[in-house]
Amino acid sequence: MLENLFASRIDIKTKSRLVGLFPDNNFADNISFGGGCPDEQLFPAKELTAAYQDAVCRQMNHAFQYHDIKGPERLREYLAARAQAKMGISKVTADDVMLTAGGQQGIELVAKLFIGKGDAMAVEAPSYVGALAAFDAYEPTYYQIGMENDGVNIDQFESILKKHPEIKLFYTVPDFHNPTGVTMSLKKRERLVELANKYDFVILEDTPYRDLRYHGQDLPSIKSFDTEGRVIFLSSFSKILTPAFRLGWLVASPEIKEQLTNLKLAEDLEVPYIPSATVDSYIANNDLDQHIEDLKDLYRAKLDTMYRALKQNLPAGTKVSHPEGGFFFWIELDPEIDTTSLLWKQSVPDQHLIYVPSESFYPNRDIKNGMRVNFTGSTIKQINDGCRRLRAVIDSAEISLPELSLAI
Ligand SMILES: Cc1ncc(COP(=O)(O)O)c(C=O)c1O
Repeated sequence: MLENLFASRIDIKTKSRLVGLFPDNNFADNISFGGGCPDEQLFPAKELTAAYQDAVCRQMNHAFQYHDIKGPERLREYLAARAQAKMGISKVTADDVMLTAGGQQGIELVAKLFIGKGDAMAVEAPSYVGALAAFDAYEPTYYQIGMENDGVNIDQFESILKKHPEIKLFYTVPDFHNPTGVTMSLKKRERLVELANKYDFVILEDTPYRDLRYHGQDLPSIKSFDTEGRVIFLSSFSKILTPAFRLGWLVASPEIKEQLTNLKLAEDLEVPYIPSATVDSYIANNDLDQHIEDLKDLYRAKLDTMYRALKQNLPAGTKVSHPEGGFFFWIELDPEIDTTSLLWKQSVPDQHLIYVPSESFYPNRDIKNGMRVNFTGSTIKQINDGCRRLRAVIDSAEISLPELSLAI
C-alpha cells in the first residue's frame, strides 16, 4: 500500500538477486555446493576467542564505546605492508587503507560513489551476484564483457569502450573469479590499466580469493600497474579468516578514499571496534600466513578432488573451468537446459543437492544453462557424492530435453 512512497530506484517487481538464492535442503543427507562458505573446521576459534578477550581487556569499558571510522592503526599498517609485499602495490601507508564492513560494503560504497541512474558501467559476464545486487540499487546501464580462460575479453571491452566512452566504472574479480574460477593474465592486467587511462574510467579490483592459490604462480594485482589512482583494490578477511566479523579493506587514492569514508560515515558511522580489534590482536599474536597455508593445503585437496569427480561424472563435452585457486568451478551445460528450474524441480527434491544457477550472475538474468559449484564448504566425501548426484541431475535434464523443445 505504501509502495508508491518508496524511492523510484526501488524495484519492487524484480526479486532481489540475494533473496531466495538457495532452496531449503533440510534432508539428512543434503549436500550444498551453493554458498561461498569457508570450511568451518579450520576457523581458528581458540585463537580468535583469545584475541577477542585481549581486544576487550585492553580497553575494558571503553571497548564497548563508539570508536572512530578509521579502525585500529596497527591493523591498517599491517594491511599497508601486506598490500606492498603480496599485491605489489607500491607506497601504501596506513592512511591509504580503509576498513569496511566486509568486502560487500566496499562494493556498495563504490557503487554509491560512482553510479547514478543510467550511468554506464562494465561488468564481467558472468559476475559476482552480490556485486550485481549492490550495483542494481543504483540503476546503472550495464555493459557486459565476456570471459575467456585468461580473464575478461579485453578486445571486446575495448570495442565496447570505443562505442561507449561514457563507461565510468569496471568491476572485476581478477583472481579465481566468482563465479567462473578464472584468473586474469598478467598481460590483461596491464592492458586494463592502459584502457582505464585512455578511456577515463575507474576499476574496482575485488580480490577476496587472491591469497588462496593452490596451483601456479601469484600474479601482481591490477592496482600494482595503476599510474593515475584509478584502481580501487578491495579485499576481505572473510575467506582467509572468518566472515563473522564482517571485515574488509580497500586501498584507494586519497580523493576516492575521502569520499568513500564520507559515505561510510553516513552509512554506519564507524568501523566496529570489537571485530576490528579482535582481528588486529589475532594478527599480532598469530601467524596469519601460516593459517592461510593450512587452508590452502586442505582446499587444494578439495579442488583436485572436485575437478576429478566433475570430469568423471559430467557428460562428455560439458564445459567446466579448471581454477588454480579460490572457491568455485563453473559448468556450462547444453544451451537448452535451464539450471534454475533443474535446481528446484530435480536437484534439491530428488538428489538433495544445491548449486547456484547461472542466471543470478548475469545483469539481465538471461543465461540459464550454467551453474557455479563450490568445493570449500563440503567434505571430500560430499564432493565425490555430490558430483555423482550432479550427474544424475544432468542426466534427468537431458532425458527431458526433447520434451522441453517440443513444449517451446
Ligand atoms: C567476489 C566477492 N566479493 C565480495 C564478497 C563479499 O564478501 P565479504 O563481504 O564477506 O567480505 C564475496 C563473497 O562471497 C565475493 O565472492
